[in-house]
Amino acid sequence: MTEAAKLTTGLRSDVCGALRPSDVGRRVRLAGWIHRRRDHGSLVFIDLRDRYGIVQVVVDAAVAPEAHAALTDARSEWVIAVEGTVAARRAGTENEKLATGGIEVAGEIVTVLSQAKTPPFYINDTDAPVDESLRLKYRYLDLRREPLRDRILLRSAMVQAIREVHHEHGFVEVETPILIKSTPEGARDFIVPSRLQQGSVYALPQSPQQMKQLLMVAGFDRYFQIARCFRDEDLRGDRQPEFTQLDIEMSFVDEASVRAYVEAMVIEVTKRIRPDRPIQQLPLPTFTYEEAMERYGSDKPDIRFAMELIDLGASLPESTGFKVFDETRASGGRIRAIRVAGRGGITRSDVDDLTERAKRYGANGLVWIALQPDGEVRSPIAKFLSPEATTALWSATGGKATHADGDLLLIVAGPKILSAEVLGRLRVEVALELGLADPDVLAFCWVHRFPMYQWEAESGRWDATHNPFSAPVPEHLNLLATTSGDLAKRSEGDPAAGALAQQYDIVLNGWELGGGSIRIHDRALLERSFALMGHSLEDARAKFGALLDAFEYGAPPHGGIAIGVERWAALLAGQINIREVMAFPKTQSGSDLMLEAPSEPDAKQWAELGLSVRPVKS
Ligand code: AMO
Repeated sequence: MTEAAKLTTGLRSDVCGALRPSDVGRRVRLAGWIHRRRDHGSLVFIDLRDRYGIVQVVVDAAVAPEAHAALTDARSEWVIAVEGTVAARRAGTENEKLATGGIEVAGEIVTVLSQAKTPPFYINDTDAPVDESLRLKYRYLDLRREPLRDRILLRSAMVQAIREVHHEHGFVEVETPILIKSTPEGARDFIVPSRLQQGSVYALPQSPQQMKQLLMVAGFDRYFQIARCFRDEDLRGDRQPEFTQLDIEMSFVDEASVRAYVEAMVIEVTKRIRPDRPIQQLPLPTFTYEEAMERYGSDKPDIRFAMELIDLGASLPESTGFKVFDETRASGGRIRAIRVAGRGGITRSDVDDLTERAKRYGANGLVWIALQPDGEVRSPIAKFLSPEATTALWSATGGKATHADGDLLLIVAGPKILSAEVLGRLRVEVALELGLADPDVLAFCWVHRFPMYQWEAESGRWDATHNPFSAPVPEHLNLLATTSGDLAKRSEGDPAAGALAQQYDIVLNGWELGGGSIRIHDRALLERSFALMGHSLEDARAKFGALLDAFEYGAPPHGGIAIGVERWAALLAGQINIREVMAFPKTQSGSDLMLEAPSEPDAKQWAELGLSVRPVKS
């Protein structure tokens, strides 16, 4: 059966977008939406649209008076069926912009299947700006428009390719439940009250983490799932409360084997979906977390452009003459810079704007030095710096300006991580503003060897930086064993605080695409790791009892990853918000504007659940 024939249904023989000059002379039955209607007296032209494309239908009153009459009142977005004959367009009237532009259909029988109100925005003019909330409220209309429709089709093709590649490699697709017990991934749970067991709740999965590990204990050895996840957290462009992961777990693996499979799979799927977009580097470059932070000020570096962070500390003389620098170093902090070529002519207001941003990201301030190729320097700190410091600064940052418009040094002095993160954010923003990041290029990389734990100063304990089930790198196993189990004695300087995890993230164009790890598969070690994170044994057993128990029945070494399907699809579709690849996304405040969710339950529903609501105090 041909592709087109598969789409034949009772009401149509063909789809609108598929007709070509080779179909001339065929009698066809089409059905779709009126995209545009043009009335030329006895001739009515209809652009008929379905999700495959648009075809021109011409109805001539002299040939088909009834069909012509049926279209008298017809308007955009009415749904009609047309029967007619495919004809070549007259020379000079072909439309090169349409795939069907060489032909038209001479309509003979027209049936109105459904009328339509005037839509709240133009479906047929995709350039017209439309308020985002209108697009969300009338999502079914927005989905008719070409750009969103195409992105949903891209996502569908991507998920199909994901399934194909996994099956080709012996993976088993297993669905795990949605009503579960909390699986913490660092966000709040959405909870669902139980009717049958009043007073108890289910949690919606933040990820299928525990269940996929249990599937490894069960022997499935290569699992994947297109898994719906739920996280009650603040929304951003790359976050929704409900989203989809490509979730993977493998047994008898080490970090290298998981990453090798994931890398090959990600590249294969990406090439199938966007063969036109260049992949910057293969095999993918790998950075340690430490290196990524030092060089890019980010654990998800955008490596489409260089502009790496420069650590000035070691090059500067002991006393620079500038108090902020000297004090930062005395307190163990870092002085870091980025060099922006071509921005030597920066204006005062641009500098103020950058300083404002640096402060918003947590820095005390931003030091700037503008250099011209002729050696002229503008900077609020030029007068404080000693001549040795100035010379050292030039040589550390690559010598005098070479760009005709001069260069700009942006410098942040502060604590190790903070100074890196602030400059890392400015690096990306400045590069995007200057157009240094090629929007076509797909620059994937790996970041690995994250710290196992991060110190939570407020609660005086460590927490998992990524995934509480991650294993330490083998050479750091002893750090977990030699750290006191006594929570009261815990400090930031404990040996285990320096442990690195077998944790890896895959990054694309500055977005964290996915993250995973090799897991601890030994009950005693996992209990110890939980204890180091401040969980009592009872607490760990209450939360993760099934997994801990399962590890006593023969657990294979295992590891995996989860990749954000929306993030991947958005980046392949050239979008900066994952809403743009979701059929029915939520707003910033977590609302579904179309269904008007969340909404108040009926009193009866509360009663059945044994719950009542306290009025909100004003
Ligand atoms: P993690 O929490 O890093 O790991 O999530 C994996 C990937 O899921 C995507 N993601 C999101 N996408 C949209 N909206 C969100 N709110 C959101 N949160 C996460 C990101 C992210 O990289 N169980 C572990 C995986 C593992 O260790 O195997 C986990 O969920 O692309």
